[in-house]
Amino acid sequence: MTDPERNLRRQIIDTCRQLEARGLNQGTSGNVSVRCGADPAAGFFLTPTNLPYDRMEPADIVHVTLDGQCTGRCRPSSELPFHLAIMQQRRDAVAVIHTHSTHATTIACLRKDIPAVHYLVGLFGGSNLRCAEYATFGTPELSASLLRALDGRRAALMANHGLVVIGAGLAQALALTTEAETLATLYWRALCAGQPVVLPDAEMAEVVKKFRDFGYGPVDAASRKP
Ligand code: 13P
Repeated sequence: MTDPERNLRRQIIDTCRQLEARGLNQGTSGNVSVRCGADPAAGFFLTPTNLPYDRMEPADIVHVTLDGQCTGRCRPSSELPFHLAIMQQRRDAVAVIHTHSTHATTIACLRKDIPAVHYLVGLFGGSNLRCAEYATFGTPELSASLLRALDGRRAALMANHGLVVIGAGLAQALALTTEAETLATLYWRALCAGQPVVLPDAEMAEVVKKFRDFGYGPVDAASRKP
């Protein structure tokens, strides 16, 4: 294993431990992937299945090629199919984080989208965070419904399951995951307290444009190939 490779594997593990420290995942729930380089042919690294984050070592991280071939001493995450589908179809995805964070998953259990109850929804590329239709974990059906919900967005809820976030790197994906959970918390609290006011689409279009100029860059459509 080369030093840069070991470093990237460590960054995945650090991200997993940050997710746990921030209360966004625990134990073995969730999973994380990151591309191995700018060339899509380099493939990506993915966390192994069912291994607690506090016991994970660089050699446990699995390498996956863009046609889905896995190499490593551990089995890949059971959510390999959707990490692979996102890496194949979203060129803006350098890192992917999946959590079962409490408030995002609460909204996902209600099978609701998160509407523009706060302008920071625009960080994710549009006027809402959609909730993907339910499908069994690890199935091609889940990958398909998730890609639809992620169209033009950096995040989507997964019905009765959790949250998926796309980032331009591990640091951005972690920051956006924290933000998505905060937005879900605000929405849930607003629903408990009354009738949340949703910002109009024209205002959200302005917000999304400002975030793009701010340095977040454009969000890819799920239908485009890398
Ligand atoms: P893995 O341990 O297989 O990654 O599964 C965790 C999970 O959250 C499945 O959705």
